[in-house]
Amino acid sequence: MTGISGKVVAIAGASSGIGEATAVHLAERGAKLVLGARRSDLLDVLVEQITRGGGEAVAVTTDVRRRADLEELVATAQRRFGRLDVLFSNAGSMAVSAFDELRTDDWELMVDVNIKGVLNGIAAALPVFRAQGFGQFVHTASTAAYKVVPQQSVYAATKTAVKVLTEGLRQEAGPNLRVTLVSPGFTNTEGVGKGGSAETAAALIAQRDQIAMPPDAIARAVAFAIEQPDGVDVGEIVVRPTAQS
Ligand SMILES: NC(=O)c1ccc[n+]([C@@H]2O[C@H](COP(=O)([O-])OP(=O)(O)OC[C@H]3O[C@@H](n4cnc5c(N)ncnc54)[C@H](OP(=O)(O)O)[C@@H]3O)[C@@H](O)[C@H]2O)c1
Repeated sequence: MTGISGKVVAIAGASSGIGEATAVHLAERGAKLVLGARRSDLLDVLVEQITRGGGEAVAVTTDVRRRADLEELVATAQRRFGRLDVLFSNAGSMAVSAFDELRTDDWELMVDVNIKGVLNGIAAALPVFRAQGFGQFVHTASTAAYKVVPQQSVYAATKTAVKVLTEGLRQEAGPNLRVTLVSPGFTNTEGVGKGGSAETAAALIAQRDQIAMPPDAIARAVAFAIEQPDGVDVGEIVVRPTAQS
């Protein structure tokens, strides 16, 4: 199936920022959405907004650290819409800090959400995609996977892991599945520095407010990867604000 209209897209991390913008963009272009995140109140508002606009969407409370939650996200797509065309694993934590602060709980959180969350998505969707004979994984990494900067090492390591496992998955996917990595640069979302140390977060937020691009820049990149004809696999997209070095 070429294009976006009619495709069933599940988004893990859909309640704000890039995931929310992508849900809105894809719904406007005729996709059917299955929206996952922990904040179900925000998901319900988004479902209402999409439905009011004539689109189709359903919310599933999802914590990507729980394998069963990803299985339920995928199963909901199958129950409600009969199949799953795309799993967009976008949930992420940017709880950044300097090593000296020893914010070990944040390190663990980023590993659990950013790496294990993506793996849980693969475990849930891969057997379904194999059985269907089609399907596409889209994973959110970051420009941090391409350039390490101070205070972001653990975050950068998790996003590098996402980049590596996505490329490995692409190589194993075979001729019927598609695997895409989307790496945003500074994007204007609430997630920048969220949960990180106050000092690091403040510096990042100041930079975000100066140079960040709107999240629909990433939504359009995701849409580009999804709308390609069968047999065309967009492997990697990096999108930065022009002002980002
Ligand atoms: N903004 C940037 O500059 C930037 C740059 C590069 C990469 N990224 C990446 O882009 C992705 C989206 O981030 P964003 O910038 O759009 O920030 P955001 O607005 O904070 O979005 C993060 C999303 O992830 C979800 N999430 C977090 N932990 C989760 C969990 N345990 N289970 C399920 N969902 C969870 C959040 O939903 P709940 O809190 O409701 O669960 C939210 O929907 C992340 O992977 C981030 O690392 C962002």
